[in-house]
Amino acid sequence: MAKVTVRDNSGKEVVTFDAEKDESLGTQAQDNGAPIPFSCGVGACRTCVAKVKKGKEYLDEEAVGPKHITTEDDEILTCICGLREDAPDDAEIDIEAENL
Ligand code: FES
Repeated sequence: MAKVTVRDNSGKEVVTFDAEKDESLGTQAQDNGAPIPFSCGVGACRTCVAKVKKGKEYLDEEAVGPKHITTEDDEILTCICGLREDAPDDAEIDIEAENL
């Protein structure tokens, strides 16, 4: 399973967990003790946004639903972003949540 490290907005590690492919990274982060805040939950605001420090190639930005706003190239909306179906088990992803 891919490893996901979640950092707060100061860069401090909050949690690292083994990610599943069937749920968004934000939901899994919350379930694992990193309470990334959600507002809309459907990719239409920036409340859950995170900068990807490592492993963007393993992520599907619209795994759970379509993105309704524009984000920077290094940003994901964690409420809808998940692992790509073909992400290898040894993938490592590192994200920094803006509102955590
Ligand atoms: S909570 Fe609004 S875009 Fe994720």
